[in-house]
Parts: sequence; C-alpha cells; structure tokens
Amino acid sequence: MNILVTGGAGYIGSVVSHQLIEKGHKVIVYDNFSTGYKEALHQNCKFVLGDVRDRELPARVMRDNKVDLVLHFAAKLNVPESIINPLDYYDNNFLGTLNLLQCCERSGVSKFIFSSTAAVYGDTQKKLVSEDDDLKPINPYGESKFFSERALFSQSKTNKMNFISLRYFNVSGASNDLSLGQRSLGSFNLIKNLCDVVLGYKEQLEVFGADFPTPDGFGVRDYIHVEDLAAAHVVAAEKLYDSQGLVNEVYNCGYGKGYSVKEVIDAFSRITGKAVPYTIRPRRAGDPAAVVADVSKIKAELSWKPQNEDLYKICESTLNWFKKTRNA
Ligand SMILES: NC(=O)c1ccc[n+]([C@@H]2O[C@H](COP(=O)([O-])OP(=O)(O)OC[C@H]3O[C@@H](n4cnc5c(N)ncnc54)[C@H](O)[C@@H]3O)[C@@H](O)[C@H]2O)c1
Repeated sequence: MNILVTGGAGYIGSVVSHQLIEKGHKVIVYDNFSTGYKEALHQNCKFVLGDVRDRELPARVMRDNKVDLVLHFAAKLNVPESIINPLDYYDNNFLGTLNLLQCCERSGVSKFIFSSTAAVYGDTQKKLVSEDDDLKPINPYGESKFFSERALFSQSKTNKMNFISLRYFNVSGASNDLSLGQRSLGSFNLIKNLCDVVLGYKEQLEVFGADFPTPDGFGVRDYIHVEDLAAAHVVAAEKLYDSQGLVNEVYNCGYGKGYSVKEVIDAFSRITGKAVPYTIRPRRAGDPAAVVADVSKIKAELSWKPQNEDLYKICESTLNWFKKTRNA
C-alpha cells in the first residue's frame, strides 16, 4: 500500500509509520513540523514538508505517489490551549481535515483513517463508553475532532469516501526500542507529569480531586500503550484497503480497564522504589470521574491483539523515554 501519513513526524504518527514500513508498506509523511521532529522519521519514508491546510500540495502528493490510503494524525491537541485559542483549533484540526478530504476527492483517494479522541464523548457518566454513546465534547479540541468526524460521515454517504475513525483514550509509552516518544504536550498528562516529578523537574504532583465517586476517590482513566495503538492503525489500514463495500466505522482504542490517579502514582513508586510526593487540589470543572473505553467492537471486528496491556510497563516505558530525551 502507498500510505500518506499526515502528522507522521509526531508522537503517534511516527510509531505508526515505523510499523507500516516494517510491514512493507510505502509511507509518505506529510508534516509541517509544528510539533513534529525530523529524528522521528524512518530512514525509508518519503518526507514532504507541508501544511494540511495547503489547498494544492496534499492533492499533488497523493497523485504523484499513487496514494491508496490516508492516515490523518496532523492536529493540535492541547486542551487548555484550545480553550484560550479556539479558532486555531477549528482552523488547524477541522478545516485541515476538510481540506484534506477535498484533496482526496480531487485526487481519487477514497480510504481514510482518522485520529479521533475520547474527548468527543465529553463528560460521560457511563461506566464504559461505547462508540454509540452521545457525543458532547466540552472543549474546542474535542469539538474540532467531532466536526471532523461529522464531515467524514457526510462524505462517506456520497460513496466517495470510506473511513475508520479511531477514538484514542489516554496514550502513553514510547516505542519498544525507545527511539520514538512524546515530545509535544498531549491533552492529558498524568504520566508525563509523574515522570517530571520522579526526574526532579517538579517538586510534587498536583492531583485535581480525590473525592470522585470512584472506589478510591481519585479520577479513573484508560491508558493505552502507543505501540498497541499503532498496531490498531496497521490492522485498520489493512482492513480498509481490502474492503469492497462502504466503510464508515468508529472504534474506541483503549484497553477497557481503568486505573485511578492513585494507582498510577503507586505504579511510579514501585518502579522507582520511592514514594512519589503529591498534593490534592480541588476538582477542575469538566473533569469526569471516570473515562474507560468499551473495546468490544475493535476486538471483535479488527482482530487487534494488544501486547502491552500493563500499567507498570506503560509507566516504565514513558519514564525511560523521558530519562533519555530530557538528558539529551
Ligand atoms: N497523544 C494523545 O494522547 C492523543 C489522544 C487522543 C487523540 N490524539 C490524536 O492523535 C493525533 C496525533 O497526536 P500526537 O500525540 O502524535 O501529537 P504530536 O503533536 O506529537 O503530532 C502531531 C503532528 O502533526 C503535525 N501537524 C500539526 N498540525 C499540522 C498541520 N496543520 N499540517 C501538517 N502537520 C501538522 C505536527 O508537526 C506533529 O508532527 C492527533 O490528531 C491527536 O488529536 C492524541
């Protein structure tokens, strides 16, 4: 397959690109380096410096490289920043996706995998969040992804586009060889913040709320290792490429198991052999008590088999990455 990977110089897009290349696919990374970095590019990928909002370049790249499928990661993803500068988020994320879809239409590309997020669900009250649940994003970042998904659905109804949207829960960890990891700030950063405390860059962790209606009172989230998330993209891309009829599917990407903030802190204490200092602050507006994915659909339909379903492993991998890059 010839695959265009927008945002392939970033955290998740780079791990996916490496896995695709290792499986023999041809990857063209398209990135504006706003948060991406050249060291993340695989030596065998083709790289095009460009912005997804460019009206012409993406279509030309698709035609010149006979692109079969687009994997669209390029986005801004800092939630607090999206509240301060909402228009930047609608522009980069929503208009960027819209422009890319128009480029696909003009160059005859009809297969698309979209990086979505659990933020499209908003303040969910359900124990497990499933793909059919109501979508009520509570910040411009989540809205920019929600609008993009709507555009994908509408375009798929014209039979000109087949797509899979993957809604990621909390992504963490680095590539197995520690060559790729997170450099930009993601939307939820408990594990990164814990690394900062453990490595001495922060005195203590601030925990927002310990009075949630959860077993230990701390907020609960579903953490997924980036290598497993990347593997989900590979199986999704291969399924979409082989499909004949209309595909417009959404899949949650998590493990379906939640860990509380306290359990994550305890994992770091076990890894380092020391208690991790933290202080409890009041809850922040809009922080749901628990967000855990129902992953029955992806497991049944994409034959995706995660290999790193282990909180300790995820925390250790992230810590090793930050040890390596913070000292670089
Ligand atoms: N990291 C997470 O926890 C998480 C969770 C849910 C969803 N996502 C989604 O996954 C995708 C990738 O996130 P990431 O964590 O790898 O972020 P990242 O910042 O590391 O990567 C984003 C990449 O996109 C590029 N980019 C941004 N805007 C661009 C534009 N207009 N034109 C061209 N390139 C552009 C950046 O340079 C960067 O290489 C995003 O769509 C994000 O919304 C991430």
